[in-house]
Amino acid sequence: MNVLLVHAHPERTSVTHQLAEISAEVLKGQHHEVMQSDLYAMDWKAVFDARDFPRRARENRLSFIEESGHAFANGYQTPDVEEEQRKLAVADAVILHFPLWWFSMPAIMKGWVDRIWAYGLAYGYQGAGNTYRYGDGAFAGKRALLAVSVGGPEIDYSPRGINGPLDQLLFPITHGTLFFPGMQVLPTFAVYGAAAIDVEGMAAAAAAWRGRVEGLFEDEPIAFRRQNGGDYPDRHVLGDHIAPDQTGLMAHIVDT
Ligand SMILES: Cc1cc2nc3c(=O)[nH]c(=O)nc-3n(C[C@H](O)[C@H](O)[C@H](O)COP(=O)(O)O)c2cc1C
Repeated sequence: MNVLLVHAHPERTSVTHQLAEISAEVLKGQHHEVMQSDLYAMDWKAVFDARDFPRRARENRLSFIEESGHAFANGYQTPDVEEEQRKLAVADAVILHFPLWWFSMPAIMKGWVDRIWAYGLAYGYQGAGNTYRYGDGAFAGKRALLAVSVGGPEIDYSPRGINGPLDQLLFPITHGTLFFPGMQVLPTFAVYGAAAIDVEGMAAAAAAWRGRVEGLFEDEPIAFRRQNGGDYPDRHVLGDHIAPDQTGLMAHIVDT
């Protein structure tokens, strides 16, 4: 299998970087092909802007969706974006390694998504609007997994914890970014208290992470409801008979 590791930390001794190194080691040990996108080392351009469209569809107004579709369809994307899309196309699984910064991914990784998730690929797939979103799409058949270093303690992320549950905080990434174009997303792996982790804590985290990497192609994905699986009769809203007492993010996950 081909696995793409994307990581967003410039410091080799960071928890994030250590976990990424374990990923590469375990996967290579299992004879998988490992591709790396070490975003800081690549000096990845984080901002999505006019430089992404050297050959514009329209000069007088910058419409990102229109220009993204035009560049993707006509081979006018920048080489750095094309190279990342090429890696993704051959990847059977993608692991995103990042520290939790303001309850989300660092800007450099958000910018990786913004620029690579092109119109016609990750959204507007096959020129068919929203026909293929949430469970179907260009990335269907691929697996995805987040490995997150979290500064705060686990209790702050518990069901009634002050920060809110991590799964819900990261829902825009797991559901909105990865499941949207079709990936099967595994439950997030988190190392809590990562800002002040000691040697024993790091050893425990490393061992737990090894187990998750070993299960990359076996573990059960999060049971997000598919747009075209029957739960959304009009493709917008859950049917009245689906989780009738639930609203909010968790209604979009099948109770297991
Ligand atoms: C800009 C910034 C924002 C952060 N935001 C959060 C946050 O929202 N929640 C949290 O628990 N920790 C937060 N932290 C702490 C980091 O998550 C923590 O330093 C990191 O996980 C340590 O892992 P590392 O060794 O991989 O950097 C933040 C740190 C920085 C620098």
